[in-house]
Amino acid sequence: MHAIGIDIGGTKIAGGLVDEFGTIVAAERVPTPQEPAELLDAIVGMITSLSDGEQVVAAGVAAPGFIDAAQSTVYYTPNINWRNEPLRARLEARIDLPVFIDNDANAAGWAEFRYGAGRLYSDMVTLTIGTGVGGAIVVRDTLLRGGFGAGAEIGHMRVVPGGLPCGCGAHGCIEQYGSGRALLRYANELADAAGIGQSLAEARRRTGKLTGDDVGRLIAEEDPGALAALRTLGRWLGEASASLSAVLDPQVFVFGGGVAAAGDALLEPIRAAYLENLPARGYHPEPDFLIAELFNDAGVVGAADLARLGVGAA
Ligand code: BGC
Ligand code: NA
Ligand code: ZN
Repeated sequence: MHAIGIDIGGTKIAGGLVDEFGTIVAAERVPTPQEPAELLDAIVGMITSLSDGEQVVAAGVAAPGFIDAAQSTVYYTPNINWRNEPLRARLEARIDLPVFIDNDANAAGWAEFRYGAGRLYSDMVTLTIGTGVGGAIVVRDTLLRGGFGAGAEIGHMRVVPGGLPCGCGAHGCIEQYGSGRALLRYANELADAAGIGQSLAEARRRTGKLTGDDVGRLIAEEDPGALAALRTLGRWLGEASASLSAVLDPQVFVFGGGVAAAGDALLEPIRAAYLENLPARGYHPEPDFLIAELFNDAGVVGAADLARLGVGAA
């Protein structure tokens, strides 16, 4: 039996018809409409066309925000404008399928746990490094949702008291220091200064604005400025991971999202900062640090799998 997974991102919505082995057998993709009614129409349209003529048990929708325990309501999305949005009810009114709403990082992390980098472990923490910082926590083979459903919002763990304002309304969250946006900020700072940021400054001059793609390309070319920006990002994430070990003690940390394309260049500073800051350092077993394997597909595969679990068909 197939399930449908939909992953709502800031710029695009990805959807897929997914089989019980986590394979996407049909896929669709559209730009994310900014207007709420159009966004809803786009999700409905995608589920309808993916399920047309297929045997489908359920649809899972992954959204970049705080979700309730009933997997029905989007409480709050820091980077798009949903507040107490009854997404499940709105979708089920228009679609003849059970619908489950989940957090985007929970979906991506769950897919990694089932089919990707986390499959050999029972206790895993996933961090997705994109526009925001998302988190997924697996404890003893179970996805941790928290008492109100909105747990594993690792991006909003405070790392700097009185620090930078965050889209969640608080200050000093790791999202402001460890996200793709933070990486761009570090890259721009290096471009402003004379020194190793010269290629970054040149890329910025060419187009008027540094993009994630510019920085990603320079990282791949081992440009010293881009690598320095990435190291700063990695240090923040490594220190946060050390604190997460004190709470959750995972056997593995998996890093996903666009910035994880940097691979070992990202993992190295993370691991170094982790080891320097680990409570009981030298006496605590060292977890593995891995890059996500399913990349762009993780949200779709995980949302479908969690929906399948939701109807007891996993
Ligand atoms: C949101 C999370 C989401 C993450 C990645 C954060 O700002 O609070 O719910 O998982 O961004 O999209
Ligand atoms: Na999460
Ligand atoms: Zn925050």
